[in-house]
Amino acid sequence: MSDALKLQIRNVSKLYGNGVKALDDVSLTISPGMFGLLGHNGAGKSTLMNSLATLQVPSAGGLRLGEVDIVAEPAEARRFIGYLPQEFGVYPGVPAIELLDYLAQLKGFDNPAKRVDEVKRLLHAVNLWDVRTRSVDTYSGGMRQRFGVAQALLGEPKLLIVDEPTAGLDPTERNRLHEILASISRDCIIFLSTHIVEDIATLCTEMAVLHRGHIVGTGSPDDFTAQLEGRLWIGDLDTKDVAEVRAEANVIATKVQRGKVRVLVESEASPGAGFEPKTPTLEDTFFSLTKTHH
Ligand SMILES: Nc1ncnc2c1ncn2[C@@H]1O[C@H](COP(=O)(O)OP(=O)(O)O)[C@@H](O)[C@H]1O
Ligand SMILES: [Mg+2]
Repeated sequence: MSDALKLQIRNVSKLYGNGVKALDDVSLTISPGMFGLLGHNGAGKSTLMNSLATLQVPSAGGLRLGEVDIVAEPAEARRFIGYLPQEFGVYPGVPAIELLDYLAQLKGFDNPAKRVDEVKRLLHAVNLWDVRTRSVDTYSGGMRQRFGVAQALLGEPKLLIVDEPTAGLDPTERNRLHEILASISRDCIIFLSTHIVEDIATLCTEMAVLHRGHIVGTGSPDDFTAQLEGRLWIGDLDTKDVAEVRAEANVIATKVQRGKVRVLVESEASPGAGFEPKTPTLEDTFFSLTKTHH
């Protein structure tokens, strides 16, 4: 595989047996670097990630990693793909170094000396070398996720899929995981899903927003915030006035703050007295793009 490696998602749809259309005509082209898929719970992120990881098959459309057709040649595709699922199970009572060695054997590392080197390299890379003899089920959530990253990196994948890696982590653990993800080689494609805007803002150069199975925007985080430039207004209102503003203006978010309601409005002109312009953040844009039916 060459420098021009691309992940291509072409018109992918997924209809589950219960009638839920989790993905509806999703198309994305992704180059090496960190790509973020942002969406609320239920948006369809895991459905897309599981399909890329060859764990399920789309109802329609194509998935291609470079020359490899992921849907038609799943075994071939798996040689190039590392995956950290949203729910990562671990075997109780097995030291991290032994578990990673075992997973390396499953991944095809037959040469024991090379396997020992690879396991050592990865445990250092995710900063778990000092706790390598502890059983993974005694790890904190953040350590467990870092172990998950290590196992996903076995065999130097060209595509690394990480599904909601920071969900449930405290801020310190999240920062530590951010550092590790940011340090991973830039010549592979890292496809990261999250519902946490800060993950994307910190890590990703390119991103897409998935909403109810549809891609509602793609670009760099700056492209997203630029869309709202000059169109965002903020005002602190009394609770009794909120309904009226809601009826008349395009309110994209509200938040109670010190007894007042902080209201965010998207519009060309100021919605009126008490509002002032606001510099848009990625979170504001995410609210704006997913405001309907959320
Ligand atoms: N195996 C399944 N069978 C039926 N519906 C499913 C299944 N997996 C997910 N869904 C539904 O598909 C939608 C998208 O789910 P999911 O891909 O898990 O979203 P996300 O990861 O963004 O939270 C949700 O409405 C969910 O309930
Ligand atoms: Mg999910």
